[in-house]
Amino acid sequence: MDVFKFLFLLSSCIFVSTENTHVQEQLFLSSLGLSSRPRASIHGPVPSVLWNMYKQAEKKRVHASDACTVPEYGVRGNIVRYVMDQGRVIAGSSNGCPTCVEHHLYFNMSVLEDVEQLSLAQLEIKFKQDSFPASRTDLTFNMHVYRVLRSALKGMAHESSRRLLISQSVQVTPGTIRFNLTDLAESWRRKGKNYGMVMALQATRFSNELDQVSDVEISYQGHVEMPQLMASLVVVSLNPQQCRSRKKRSAYYLPVTPSNVCKPRRLYIDFKDVGWQDWIIAPQGYVANYCHGECPFPLSESLNGTNHAILQTLVHSFDPKGTPQPCCVPIKLSPISMLYYDNNDNVVLRHYEDMVVDECGCR
Ligand SMILES: *[C@@H]1O[C@H](CO)[C@@H](O)[C@H](O)[C@H]1NC(C)=O
Ligand SMILES: *[C@@H]1O[C@H](CO)[C@@H](O)[C@H](O)[C@H]1NC(C)=O
Ligand SMILES: *[C@@H]1O[C@H](CO)[C@@H](O)[C@H](O)[C@H]1NC(C)=O
Repeated sequence: MDVFKFLFLLSSCIFVSTENTHVQEQLFLSSLGLSSRPRASIHGPVPSVLWNMYKQAEKKRVHASDACTVPEYGVRGNIVRYVMDQGRVIAGSSNGCPTCVEHHLYFNMSVLEDVEQLSLAQLEIKFKQDSFPASRTDLTFNMHVYRVLRSALKGMAHESSRRLLISQSVQVTPGTIRFNLTDLAESWRRKGKNYGMVMALQATRFSNELDQVSDVEISYQGHVEMPQLMASLVVVSLNPQQCRSRKKRSAYYLPVTPSNVCKPRRLYIDFKDVGWQDWIIAPQGYVANYCHGECPFPLSESLNGTNHAILQTLVHSFDPKGTPQPCCVPIKLSPISMLYYDNNDNVVLRHYEDMVVDECGCR
């Protein structure tokens, strides 16, 4: 049986009348906060930071922990995205300056839903080591990062359309340069407000002396090999709708015992079975469980019934045709974390509440 249908039939007594798998998949995706199944085209590498955070989240899941903070960054949040730079090197920007290069950096912030509260946006810049000759360790770079305020027309002075954010001297070394751009990223979320940034690099010779080294000296035949770089924006946000007070996880694996009484049953969902392996990076599947079984009269305490359910079983025992038994439904659920590619090929670590059934009850 197809897993979506299975989940919907079992998650409640309400019969899902639609036979359409697509509609059921859509329902399931929207409960994950996704409007459609992401179509990732390039499967870029998963940033090691995200892998480690995912593994930490997996470990912590067994113990009680606050699901709505990201301890690695010390902020509130249940979604961590690596938003990829969609900008490019600005052609002709180095005219008249052989030791300069300008990159346009653009991060599409519309991947965040409106309900999400931005907690942190951190720019990460890494130099591609293999693109830069190791022999040029004598070089150091002046890096200037500007916010672009409006689209500049040709011939217009840059000064009126840019505002300097960061000015720093950097060397091409392994490791990452990080800047906190939370306020700027928040402003980019407004429609038509995101013109991105410009990062200008200028090579100078690393020198103890204060004398100015001319461009000609550091360039080779009027040309300097400029380092290539990779920029990404780590965005931590909180979807308050998917974040409620934490419940402690208890039963993780459930014993398999045959019985007709309401209780959690083991169900492993393999994402391969639903064709989601192309966008979900991890986990490959998880123990979701489900509630199934009867809520017979008299309702015993172990069935965690409400007063209403107790009365309903009583009425049912007199009038089985007119009044149904209460439903066997999840009363305690616990979260999981998922790592996936979104539609823009960003890697996203997201925390989902209520993904695993721990306990059932008659309602
Ligand atoms: C940004 O992403 C949104 C949603 O994924 C997309 O509709 C839009 O075209 C993207 N904008 C740019 C400039 O790439
Ligand atoms: C980043 O900047 C924001 C806004 O300026 C500030 O509130 C926040 O504390 C900063 N976060 C870190 C980790 O520095
Ligand atoms: C009812 O709740 C208790 C603890 O609150 C739990 O041990 C038990 O498994 C629950 N019953 C069912 C049917 O899940």
